[in-house]
Amino acid sequence: MPIIAPSILSADFGRLADEIRAVERAGADWIHVDVMDGRFVPNLTIGPLVVRAARAATRLPLDVHLMIVEPERYAPAFVEAGAYQVTVHAEACPHLHRNIQQIRDLGARAGVSLNPATPVSALDHVLDLVDLVLVMSVNPGFGGQAFLPLVFPKIASLRRAADQRGLDLCIEVDGGITHDTIGPCHEAGADAFVAGSYVYGSGDYGAAIGRLRAACAPETL
Ligand code: DX5
Ligand code: ZN
Repeated sequence: MPIIAPSILSADFGRLADEIRAVERAGADWIHVDVMDGRFVPNLTIGPLVVRAARAATRLPLDVHLMIVEPERYAPAFVEAGAYQVTVHAEACPHLHRNIQQIRDLGARAGVSLNPATPVSALDHVLDLVDLVLVMSVNPGFGGQAFLPLVFPKIASLRRAADQRGLDLCIEVDGGITHDTIGPCHEAGADAFVAGSYVYGSGDYGAAIGRLRAACAPETL
């Protein structure tokens, strides 16, 4: 079963708790939380306080995506606020191995994200340490951007590497996920999918999530 993680970046922030509960009722698996610092990416979003409020609104795991420099300064606060997993960007972490260890020591699942231009080989020496790789299918910073097909070979090569090492690795794709783009990502070996504008921009969250699931299982249509 694919894991569907609606991104609250595209939710109505004035009614955030309701918006989170609505996707939970609609069948979401995780809540994806996009944290941006105005430095690693050209946008500013939310901090640990909002994660704490999200934690109180749902029982779903909170999938926290840190698009920030020096994530070691804030990882403890996000775990404390209720993050289930914390994902840092390889490009933002000169000491990536240490960042992963820190998140694990804090008791959360650790993820690493790769920008579109970053090769999978950047993870050669840490793949065994992470629970999740978040493959960016847009340049991070904003919701609603067009999907970049360059991720297909990246997903496939990550899945191959994980299989060769016998790892139970979760591969998540983030950016431009729709009923058209999710199927080939799933086929290439991804098992979790962030969907911001596709879910929150739809009039019926349950129907949108249903279409994403159906596109991953075309044989059952
Ligand atoms: C982009 C964020 C994504 C974003 C996805 O920087 O990491 O999680 O919210 O939004 P959509 O699904 O609209 O591309
Ligand atoms: Zn994200």
